[in-house]
Amino acid sequence: MSTFPIPAVLAVALCLAACESQRADVAQHQDIEGYVHLCSSCHGVTGHSVSPTFPILAAQQADYLEAQLHAFRDHSRADPHAHTYMWGMAAHLDDAAITKLAAYFSAQPASRGEPVDDKTAATAKSIFIDGIESRNVPACVACHGEKAEGQGAFPRLAGQHRAYLADQLRLFRSNARANETMHDNALNLTEPEIDALAAYLSSL
Ligand code: HEC
Ligand code: HEC
Repeated sequence: MSTFPIPAVLAVALCLAACESQRADVAQHQDIEGYVHLCSSCHGVTGHSVSPTFPILAAQQADYLEAQLHAFRDHSRADPHAHTYMWGMAAHLDDAAITKLAAYFSAQPASRGEPVDDKTAATAKSIFIDGIESRNVPACVACHGEKAEGQGAFPRLAGQHRAYLADQLRLFRSNARANETMHDNALNLTEPEIDALAAYLSSL
């Protein structure tokens, strides 16, 4: 009796398994490419958007990106731009796609924004590092990290568009973007302080 049929059957079985997983890989890759293509019209292919209306996603914390995509999908992030631009986008994403997109954008290299003048940087840095005790403004560094690089659900702020950062602080303050922690943190910041923080953080 020849032993030939056994290895042949094995080979077929192995190939089936291998080819199946290869096909799945290709499908996953195309999946994410299709989505990235969609996102790129506003956020850029590598997450480095040009217009400050569209936040930079490159090097953002994956957990944070994931949480925001869920928040757009379940409408808990409901400021006007979230509603206009992101609710429709997120409606098409399932949990697996959200995880993959968050991993993809967070793995892109960071960039810096425009440089800031020394006086503005000094004002903002002092708030960022020490807070303003007399007005119950906490030190941002406690959550956002020493270089504003973020961690987990605390977003990276470094290198983000200046106008976007300032807008978000005002949206937290007015509760248009509902987040209890950031509402309290932004509540007692003055207009010039918000602008200084945004300019400084963007320059990092
Ligand atoms: C038509 C333009 C547009 C497209 C396309 C788009 N976005 Fe957005 N995205 C925006 C805008 C505008 C905001 C800011 C929303 C706000 O101000 O609340 C945003 C915000 C985000 C945020 C929150 C970032 C942060 O720092 O809080 C994430 C994450 C995000 N988009 C991911 C995606 C992904 C992933 C895709 C593709 C599936 C995508 N976006 C497609 C316009 C777009
Ligand atoms: C106790 C922790 C904590 C402190 C302190 C804190 N933040 Fe935040 N911050 C957060 C969290 C959590 C979020 C994400 C909120 C959400 O999920 O919508 C956030 C979001 C933000 C965003 C929006 C980023 C984006 O991509 O949309 C900005 C801007 C920001 N914080 C600035 C600041 C500044 C400036 C300070 C100091 C005055 C500060 N934060 C202090 C926890 C904190």
